[in-house]
Amino acid sequence: MTEIEKFNNEVQANIARLNHSMEMKKMGIDFVKSSAPYKYSYNFSWLGRPIIQYPQDMTAMQEIIWSLQPDLIIETGIAHGGSLIMNASFLAMLDYCDAAKLNQVIDPNKPKRKVLGIDIDIRAHNRTAIEAHPMSNHIEMFQGSSIDADMIKKVHEYAKDFNCILVALDSNHTHAHVLAELEAYAPLVTKGSYCVVFDTIIEDMAENSFPDRPWDKGNNAKTAVWKYLENLSKKQKDNKDTLQFEIDAAIESKLLITVAPDGYLKRIN
Ligand SMILES: C[S@@+](CC[C@H](N)C(=O)[O-])C[C@H]1O[C@@H](n2cnc3c(N)ncnc32)[C@H](O)[C@@H]1O
Repeated sequence: MTEIEKFNNEVQANIARLNHSMEMKKMGIDFVKSSAPYKYSYNFSWLGRPIIQYPQDMTAMQEIIWSLQPDLIIETGIAHGGSLIMNASFLAMLDYCDAAKLNQVIDPNKPKRKVLGIDIDIRAHNRTAIEAHPMSNHIEMFQGSSIDADMIKKVHEYAKDFNCILVALDSNHTHAHVLAELEAYAPLVTKGSYCVVFDTIIEDMAENSFPDRPWDKGNNAKTAVWKYLENLSKKQKDNKDTLQFEIDAAIESKLLITVAPDGYLKRIN
C-alpha cells in the first residue's frame, strides 16, 4: 500500500468513526442551531462577494466539483453572488488545469465551463458587482422564479449543450418550492453528479426559528427532499422512471457542521 493510500484509508476510517459518534453529530447540529440566530452564514465572502454559506459546505462543494469536473453548475438563489463567484472560480480553476495539462493558453473570454444562477430578484447593485467581477465570464444569470414554467424551459434549453451538470438549490426553502425545484432541475443532474439542497437543517431546528420566513419545521427543504425521494422510489416500483438519487451521508459525516443534512443527493441512475 502506498503512503497516499494509507493516508486516504486513515481519513476514511476517521470519517466512519465520526459517523458512529452521536456526540460529535449532536455537537455539529447544535453549533448550526446556536449560530443561526447570529446569521453566522453571512460572515463570509468569496473573492470579495458576500456568500451566505457555512465554510464546511463551501469545502464540500470544492471537493465535489474537483472530483466531478462539471462543465455546468446550475444554482437557484443568487443573493449577493458569493456562491456564484465561488463556483465560477472552481470552474475557472478546472479550465486552467485542463489548459495546463495540454500546455495551452487560456482565453478568459471563451470559458469552457459555466455557472447558471437563477434568482427572482437580482438587485441592481449585486448584478453590477457580479458583472464587474473577473469571474463573470464563467457566469450566466436568469432573473425570475426558479419554478416558473418558462424559466424551467429556458434552463433546460441552456443545459442542453453541457455534459456534466451539478445542481445547487438555495432559493425559497419552503417544502412546495423546493419540491418543485427538485422536480424541475434534479433530472438535469448527470449520472454520478449531485443535486445539493441547502438549508435542510431547518427541519432539525426548533419550531418558529424563522418567524419572518415562510418555512419552518415540517415545511422546508428537508421535508421536500424526503418527499422527492419517496416519489422517485414509487415511480421506480411502477417502472415509470429510472431516475435515482441517494443521500450521500458520508459528506455530512465528514462535515459535521452543515446546513444541508440529507441535502447532498447523488444521482446513481
Ligand atoms: C439564501 S439566498 C441565496 C444565497 C446564495 N446562494 C449564496 O450562497 O450566497 C436566497 C435567494 O433566493 C432568492 N429567491 C427567493 N425566492 C425565489 C424564487 N422563487 N426563485 C428564485 N430565487 C428565489 C432570493 O431573492 C435570494 O436572493
